[in-house]
Amino acid sequence: MSIRAIIAGTGSALPARRVTNDELAQTVDTSDEWIVERTGIRARHIAAEGETTATLGAEAARKALAAAGIDAAAIDLIVLATATPDQTFPATATKVQDALGIRDCVAFDVAAVCSGFLYALSVADSMIRGGVARTALVIGAETFSRILDWEDRATCVLFGDGAGAVVLTTGDGADGRGILSTALHADGRHNQLLYVDGGPSTTGTVGKLRMKGSEVFRHAVTNLAAVLGEALEKAGLTVADVDWVVPHQANRRILDATARKLGLPAERVVVTVDEHANTSAASVPLAFDVAVRDGRIQRGDLIVFEAMGGGFTWGAAVARF
Ligand code: COA
Repeated sequence: MSIRAIIAGTGSALPARRVTNDELAQTVDTSDEWIVERTGIRARHIAAEGETTATLGAEAARKALAAAGIDAAAIDLIVLATATPDQTFPATATKVQDALGIRDCVAFDVAAVCSGFLYALSVADSMIRGGVARTALVIGAETFSRILDWEDRATCVLFGDGAGAVVLTTGDGADGRGILSTALHADGRHNQLLYVDGGPSTTGTVGKLRMKGSEVFRHAVTNLAAVLGEALEKAGLTVADVDWVVPHQANRRILDATARKLGLPAERVVVTVDEHANTSAASVPLAFDVAVRDGRIQRGDLIVFEAMGGGFTWGAAVARF
């Protein structure tokens, strides 16, 4: 037996405002038919003034703590994945810490765009297994609506805002539960395929999202299938052992193509992209929480998380819930 990070509870948060494709088509040259056919997206939530990455992250964290039955005071580590922090600094994790009333803990952000939650989970898992932390909040939270170019119909219809969180506790693995493996990758040669055209050290502006969609699509299917297989192999498992895949929710066609490539039945893939669109680092923990709360995912199920994003970065994790 060895020290393991156990997923004790999940939570998520969405902005109140839900925007359908038809509503978008009133201001963007697009249609519900085009968006549904190419992406599977039907609606997304868009943050209002005052709703930020930190407020959404804190709400998701509170729900995850409640689900785990753990008091915020027990948290000794917050890792928050985001590409849309409230400010360049301080880390949004420290704003969540303050909102939760936690007086002292380790708190920092991780930037790996849509793979951010996988990176954050892997960092927190390592810190728990290394004995540096015992009870962690791992959060993915984004307000991508604030970095979208609403004149660019090829990107602005694809993204939404939201947050998801998990509470990790320390266990001995005796019951088989916990994070069993993680696998992470990055290939910076492709950073011009999906990026933001601004930043504090270059233009001094926040910038807008730019993407070469069809090229991202091609890399996504190959990388996701490979890293999912790699994480399973590290855990000594195969696709046949998997109860649920909780993938990054970018595009229905990417989810279907990846499942086909792996020989995974579509019924074992959690899909929320229709209602949330692509919420970047929030998408995996948000989809996970939805499937836990609606009863699809049960305690003891074997879950694979996977994501790919700008950089490129990509990763997967295997956990028994
Ligand atoms: N509404 C209507 N038409 C649109 C449109 C929209 N919102 N966006 C683009 N189009 C048009 C284009 O102008 C183009 O028209 P043209 O042929 O007259 O020039 C046509 O649709 C096809 O565009 P293209 O970009 O080639 O479409 P596609 O089939 O590649 O689908 C994406 C576009 C973005 C849906 C697809 O490439 C994709 O999902 N890529 C992956 C993106 C992703 O998931 N990124 C995040 C990873 S973290």
